[in-house]
Amino acid sequence: MSQPYSADARQYATATERNRQPILTVLQQVLPSMGTVLEISSGTGEHITYFAPRMSHLQWIPSEPQAEARQSIQAWGEALPSANLWMPPLALDVSVLPWPVERPVATDALEQRLRSEPITAIVNINMIHICAWKMCAHLMAGAGRILPREGVLYLYGPFRRAGEPMAASNEAFDQMLRDRDPNWGIRDLAKVTALANQHGLRLEQVIEMPANNLSVVFRRQG
Ligand SMILES: C[S@@+](CC[C@H](N)C(=O)[O-])C[C@H]1O[C@@H](n2cnc3c(N)ncnc32)[C@H](O)[C@@H]1O
Repeated sequence: MSQPYSADARQYATATERNRQPILTVLQQVLPSMGTVLEISSGTGEHITYFAPRMSHLQWIPSEPQAEARQSIQAWGEALPSANLWMPPLALDVSVLPWPVERPVATDALEQRLRSEPITAIVNINMIHICAWKMCAHLMAGAGRILPREGVLYLYGPFRRAGEPMAASNEAFDQMLRDRDPNWGIRDLAKVTALANQHGLRLEQVIEMPANNLSVVFRRQG
């Protein structure tokens, strides 16, 4: 018998099953104890729908510039509903100002939510090497605009580090990215940090993660 038609728009990113638990373990240590976490570049939505029910003291807002991916996030949100997970995902491209969490474009409902649960953290997983470098500048500028003093910007992904050769797997990944788009590529942590500093964000922690990735934690200064 043929399968019934399914309108399930859920997408699956193979790395997520491997990295979501190690990332969650770090987030449980570094995210603020209250407020709203804005995820930028939620992709399929698998990360945020895993994190939200496991960190239920926080509110979670997914965002993603690609419409098809937003459908996936919505579908994951419907399959794994969590009272603290905002839906629908926001159409947020870091280079388009203002961000949909900012005045004057935030909807009344969102503004109301953010008044009671202000954004205290931004989570951004596997984005800055898969877009132009200027997007990293937009990300840092936006984090500088919307995070309060002591707010956290969390990045996850592969990075270059001065004086340390990259793992062969990351060198191959970097080459693959550059072949696909010369503007893409694994970023230098010192350059990322310098950009963050320009927007009032201080590097607080760098945590080694499986498969030669890093968790990088920035904190907004007063
Ligand atoms: C490799 S995917 C990572 C998705 C997800 N965070 C994950 O780890 O599975 C890169 C993501 O960055 C998003 N992205 C690229 N450029 C962006 C931009 N200018 N603003 C926001 N997100 C962007 C893409 O749409 C895509 O979802």
